[in-house]
Amino acid sequence: MSSPTLALFIVTISLLFVASSQQADGSIQFTYSGGTGPNMWGKINPNFSTCGSGKTQSPINILTDKAVLNKKLKPLIRSYGSCNVTLVNNKFNVGVRYPDHTGGVVVDGKMYSLKQMHWHSPSEHRINGKQYAAELHLVHVTDEGNVAVVAILFDYGHADPLLAKMQKALNELAYEVKRHEDSPITFGPFHPTEVRKSCHKYYRYVGSFTTPPCTQDVIWYILARVRSVSKAQVEALRAPLDLRCKNNARPCQPMNGRHVELYDEDV
Ligand SMILES: *[C@@H]1O[C@H](CO)[C@@H](O)[C@H](O)[C@H]1NC(C)=O
Ligand SMILES: *[C@@H]1O[C@H](CO)[C@@H](O)[C@H](O)[C@H]1NC(C)=O
Repeated sequence: MSSPTLALFIVTISLLFVASSQQADGSIQFTYSGGTGPNMWGKINPNFSTCGSGKTQSPINILTDKAVLNKKLKPLIRSYGSCNVTLVNNKFNVGVRYPDHTGGVVVDGKMYSLKQMHWHSPSEHRINGKQYAAELHLVHVTDEGNVAVVAILFDYGHADPLLAKMQKALNELAYEVKRHEDSPITFGPFHPTEVRKSCHKYYRYVGSFTTPPCTQDVIWYILARVRSVSKAQVEALRAPLDLRCKNNARPCQPMNGRHVELYDEDV
């Protein structure tokens, strides 16, 4: 195997592993409360040890006063095409899997392809201590296995147009849980236009996945523009989840000397 192929292989394996944190019987290894909650993740499984010992973990509380303006940062240019997607109940969150070549984001001249997105509620990242109603993570990966996640924060308010397009599929997911079924739901064509809106301001730092195995060296882009989501939509995202994962926000992690950079087109 050539080394990019090998790297892609490893990433595929590790992404599969994230997706397969569910065991064969459909139960999940980690949750958000009690003995399998976030404080215990590092001890549940040797594969999750980074969750306990990692020094550059996510999420974090972003203190805007301490964010350092970096004039070298570039606008986040995202371009995604239309495609059929798969809605998945991971039990600890609801996710959307994208087919290959859906598009992605260019970071430092490299193409990061969109692989999946998923929601947390309440939000995982905080801004000046404020926790939001929900947070969407768009997970992008390069051929070499580098990961960049774009995070979008939501306050309660009017409905989010992207989630509105998925309402039927979300209802179906909750209905499946009642029937003790668990098959992914494919729908489309789906054009994530709402995800594509340009952003004039973002925070960037280096952290980790916020769920086990908590893999590090993830580049985070937290968009400064907070969007809005309805209470009913957040309920729909929570309905299919395991009881111990309905509130699926990992607590904020220590900065350990890390800095947050700021991109602001207007400065
Ligand atoms: C750890 O990960 C490896 C590779 O994915 C897997 O084969 C092994 O079963 C995992 N260990 C546990 C305890 O889950
Ligand atoms: C999406 O699915 C529809 C119907 O299942 C199919 O006709 C269409 O070609 C698919 N689109 C893509 C981009 O795969």
